[in-house]
Amino acid sequence: MNNPVEDLENRIYAYLRQQSELYGAVNFDMAPKSDERMNKAELTDISRIIQQPYQADPRLGSINTLDDLEVYCNTLDLLKTDLPNTRLVFGKGNPDADLMIIGEAPGADEDRLGEPFVGRSGQLLTKILEAIQFNRQDVYIANILKHRPPDNRNPLPEERLRSLPYLIRQIELVQPKLILCLGKVPTETLLQTKASLKELRGKFHTFMGRYQVLLTYHPAYLLRDPHKKRDTWHDVQLLRSRYDELGCKP
Ligand code: URA
Ligand code: URA
Repeated sequence: MNNPVEDLENRIYAYLRQQSELYGAVNFDMAPKSDERMNKAELTDISRIIQQPYQADPRLGSINTLDDLEVYCNTLDLLKTDLPNTRLVFGKGNPDADLMIIGEAPGADEDRLGEPFVGRSGQLLTKILEAIQFNRQDVYIANILKHRPPDNRNPLPEERLRSLPYLIRQIELVQPKLILCLGKVPTETLLQTKASLKELRGKFHTFMGRYQVLLTYHPAYLLRDPHKKRDTWHDVQLLRSRYDELGCKP
């Protein structure tokens, strides 16, 4: 009668139930992610999109406000991942921001609330911004993906490629003077490189020939490896001085 697999499953469920009664809902946000690096062909596809961002969807070029873009993105299945019934997390902040921050993809909290960076990583991001005298309302925050991937896995290369034209339109409408990429996924996608964050951080790069880009570690990574906070502190100081040098507001 005894099925050992079922037995083990039942014991795991009982254990998880007991743990979540003690500590609250099980949070998978902190689990290390699988590595979904882009290959050379995919990096070339990105360069092509950057050269002709609206080729895949010519309607994009005639959308002229963030509100209209959000309404449009809400109608598109191609921005979704294979996780069903997720909510669009379009982006949020000052539509005239001089600083735009780009993360990876929404997690469970973001999917629930429809806003980027509202979970644990978001709380750390808020603190990082406050340390360089920004409120979240001063900046504009978006992600490479606008829908949550299953199990918080990294956005797949094809998902990033499908979403990129919409993010590019969003960037063009905000017209930031500076972009901060959080972690490997936005860095690899916007800078079309497989170089490590360690090699790339500490200096400004260019996106689409006109946006100055700085990158630093993702807040979720800082929560796992707090020793890296010192590097991020240096990065955001550099960001703030460039922001002031450029005469950005506020
Ligand atoms: N991590 C991200 O990259 N983006 C979010 O919006 C939340 C967590
Ligand atoms: N890997 C990531 O995906 N992000 C980081 O910030 C660091 C390592």
